[in-house]
Amino acid sequence: MSGDFADKFKKAVHNNFNLSREHYVDMEGKYDFFLQLTDLLVEKIQKPAEWRTQALHILDVGCGTGISTARLQQLFPNATVEGLDFSEEMLEEAKKNLPDVKFVCGDGETLSEYYAGQTFDLIIYPASIFLMPHQAQALDEANRLLAPGGVVAASVLLGLKEKNYTEMESLPPFKGIIKNEDLATLMEEYFTGVTVEKIQIELDREKATSIYKIEALSAGAFPGKPYEERQEAMQAVIAEAEAKNLQLVQEWNLLTGYKK
Ligand SMILES: C[S@@+](CC[C@H](N)C(=O)[O-])C[C@H]1O[C@@H](n2cnc3c(N)ncnc32)[C@H](O)[C@@H]1O
Repeated sequence: MSGDFADKFKKAVHNNFNLSREHYVDMEGKYDFFLQLTDLLVEKIQKPAEWRTQALHILDVGCGTGISTARLQQLFPNATVEGLDFSEEMLEEAKKNLPDVKFVCGDGETLSEYYAGQTFDLIIYPASIFLMPHQAQALDEANRLLAPGGVVAASVLLGLKEKNYTEMESLPPFKGIIKNEDLATLMEEYFTGVTVEKIQIELDREKATSIYKIEALSAGAFPGKPYEERQEAMQAVIAEAEAKNLQLVQEWNLLTGYKK
């Protein structure tokens, strides 16, 4: 991806998440969507059960409103969990919900800028690395901050799809501006024992509507359209799925890797 395009993409992601706070909180309040996705990702980490209760140092990159951060605190009760996000608005919500957590407003692609001299046992990108155009740089930085025995984990959106990949007139193919399908291969350059598992999360009318009301998520599914048109486009997808008895899903890759 050319430098200019990457910069524009990143700016758009930043702006879209700054607009997303209200709809994000609303959707999560109804469905615990990102909380459950954090659980699914953490389950994939191949470490002995005792690891979870150690005094780990964990970094939640792209922590958003703090849903993943709070869940990590519950799943790793003796860990110190820190969060980083570049959206001031999302982070405001996180700080409000978790006043005792150390949050940094910064770029997930350049972690060493903020955490030089520190190490982490787990660096986790819950639903965030696929929004970063310089993934190799992000992984390189994560690798350098991982403690011996450390783990990197990421949930990567592969798109809104029909469960059996039936083509739908109203659903544009997910363009994958970033090569998210190749992220596992890229991870192997930096980490060892890389695992990848594809999952599908089924969306009914209400859930699909609520998720794609979120400004940033609808912009990813229907790029280049203004907000109201994206909402109409989503309703057309839902209507076509219902008329043809098709099942909408979000497809994700769950990735883990281990310090070499
Ligand atoms: C889908 S949300 C996930 C939030 C949170 N992890 C959760 O599970 O609810 C993605 C988050 O990644 C953040 N993000 C995207 N690109 C980023 C970057 N380059 N640096 C820091 N944060 C970034 C966005 O601002 C957004 O808050």
